[in-house]
Amino acid sequence: MTDWAGYVAGFHEERPGITEDLLALAEAEGHTPYSWAGQAVPAGGRILDLCCGSAPLREHLTPTWYVGMDLAAAELARAAARGVPVVQADATRLPLPDACVDAVVVSMALMLVPLRETLEEIARVLRPGGVVVATLPAQGPLPLDDLLRYGRLSLALRVRGINYPNDAELADFPSVARLRVVEDSARAFLLDVDSVARADLLLDALYLPEVAPDRLPVARRVVAKWVGHRIAIPIRRIVLSR
Ligand SMILES: C[S@@+](CC[C@H](N)C(=O)[O-])C[C@H]1O[C@@H](n2cnc3c(N)ncnc32)[C@H](O)[C@@H]1O
Repeated sequence: MTDWAGYVAGFHEERPGITEDLLALAEAEGHTPYSWAGQAVPAGGRILDLCCGSAPLREHLTPTWYVGMDLAAAELARAAARGVPVVQADATRLPLPDACVDAVVVSMALMLVPLRETLEEIARVLRPGGVVVATLPAQGPLPLDDLLRYGRLSLALRVRGINYPNDAELADFPSVARLRVVEDSARAFLLDVDSVARADLLLDALYLPEVAPDRLPVARRVVAKWVGHRIAIPIRRIVLSR
């Protein structure tokens, strides 16, 4: 069985900010995935940016108080370099008192953290009436051409799609710890693959814990054919209220 926690820790120490490098280039309806997430967060208030990575969300928020938390020291160093206050912490054990924040944002992480423990911990630090905004990789919407492209990529990698440990549990968002779903939607963000470097970035930003190293050159040849196309990256946004 995959040691997801160990794999993700190593991935982010080696490639800090790679999620931001990719997703900040993807657009839908005038938004990147980060501005779309930020749009759902109420203005003002105390905000926890959980699993903040390099903290790309910060510029899309207007808090009175903000802290980013993540486990990966290299990600936090990149966030700190942009002047953002950050603390190294595990999502399942937050160094915050009960009911102390008005909103929690979690961009592209709930699919891989220990889900129930993290949601319990979010509910603990969130004040009653507070809001959670989470984004996640989604299966769709995907145009047929891109469905075929991702299919070819999966074949090259010899994996059955791009999967994450919490996929099954997140398919129907779990009602955990007094958190109620108030919005669940998805958009396809388009990445203009204008160079082989950008095609490689798309591949390198994927978690591929079970892929044999000799499959990567094959996958690189597949994504190199995407140059000149706009490739959809589907993302889901969930808004929860406590
Ligand atoms: C895909 S990245 C997303 C980073 C950033 N939020 C973004 O959207 O660009 C997932 C992040 O979750 C962090 N992470 C994974 N497991 C964690 C845990 N148990 N506690 C805190 N952070 C964790 C990783 O270090 C990584 O920075």
